[in-house]
Amino acid sequence: MLNVQEVRTDFPILSIEAHPGVPLIYLDSAATSQKPSVVVDAMNAFYRSYNSNVHRGIHRLSEDATTGYETARRKVQAFINAESAESIVYTRNTTEAINLVAYSWARTQLQPGDELLITAMEHHANIVPWQLISDMTGATLRHVPFRSDGTLDMAKLPELLSDKTKLFAFTAVSNVFGTINPVRELVDAAHAVGALALVDAAQAVPHMPVDVQAWDCDFMAFSAHKMCGPTGIGILYGKGELLESMPPFMGGGDMIRRVGLDKSTWADLPHKFEAGTPAIAEAIGLGAAVDYLTGLGMENVHAHEQFIVNYAVEALSDVPGLTILGPGASQRAGVAAFTLNGAHPHDIAQLLDEDGIAVRAGHHCAMPLHQICGINATARASFYVHTTTEEVDKLVAGLHRVRRVFRLE
Ligand code: ALA
Repeated sequence: MLNVQEVRTDFPILSIEAHPGVPLIYLDSAATSQKPSVVVDAMNAFYRSYNSNVHRGIHRLSEDATTGYETARRKVQAFINAESAESIVYTRNTTEAINLVAYSWARTQLQPGDELLITAMEHHANIVPWQLISDMTGATLRHVPFRSDGTLDMAKLPELLSDKTKLFAFTAVSNVFGTINPVRELVDAAHAVGALALVDAAQAVPHMPVDVQAWDCDFMAFSAHKMCGPTGIGILYGKGELLESMPPFMGGGDMIRRVGLDKSTWADLPHKFEAGTPAIAEAIGLGAAVDYLTGLGMENVHAHEQFIVNYAVEALSDVPGLTILGPGASQRAGVAAFTLNGAHPHDIAQLLDEDGIAVRAGHHCAMPLHQICGINATARASFYVHTTTEEVDKLVAGLHRVRRVFRLE
């Protein structure tokens, strides 16, 4: 298990006050995680002592920057057990990683009669790109429904997957229900009909051991900022032969082998997909984040979150009028989205903020999920390596205060 009190000292922000005299309780890690000092220090060190562009200069600073940038790629490769560093493409975030597959692979491969399959619990980042591609190519977009407990309706898969399905894109962990989906089973189902499988792992890679070879997925997307790293950098993992076969997503410097005025040829993987000056400090920060999480041990990270989410689901269930969305604790990652009869989620979030408690309120970029549940919005508490049971107790006390303010008791 993690020594949470020790872990907390790694995150400088956890000792600030949200308001004068009110300590911060950060329960919004699913939106973005806080950053340990080692990540901030690594980025600082880059800007202070070897800031330079990558792959361009012959000078020492540029060589050091390139080494930092490429070393981080190999750290990510090891972290998710990718077969090679060439399979790790830097993007801006999960959204851009998914769009890369949509525009480079799907736009060029799909035609009318083909089908794309998603699930009804996806984040907009794994819905809207496929709607755009479906409009461009004439392919049909279908979705797997979820059951009332927030788990996928697996019984519907056989009628939704067929030889028309070319890609099944699904989330490993729902950012609202917290559902941990059976990734390998879903990948196998896609492969059984000849479709590719893309995993949105934005809420999985930061929280549990992930092995892309064990999942056998064709593509996987995730973001640094949800895993103790900086904003502005994400990862697309892709199987080598697929990435090789795909045309560039964006054109520009660094992604070419030769440029003529009429025609150009492309750099080798992964640089073919990394046009322009990349997020260098951010890649180095991501590398430090990977080292940090590896040091904690992803099994320990997952076990701590399971413990906290179990505790939270039980404690929140005691609040009258509160309904938690999603499955039981054994199938749930560290996320608890809820409604409270008589109080709007935005008002809940605002009152909790007065107690220093940061939660997210709204549709969490999952409008279809909320529509299907018949609600406009939820409040969401999400947990990470530094969350304590005392913080969950304060959340529960804050919700009792919300009930008093709204005269619900
Ligand atoms: N996708 C992030 C969330 O769920 C922003 O909050």
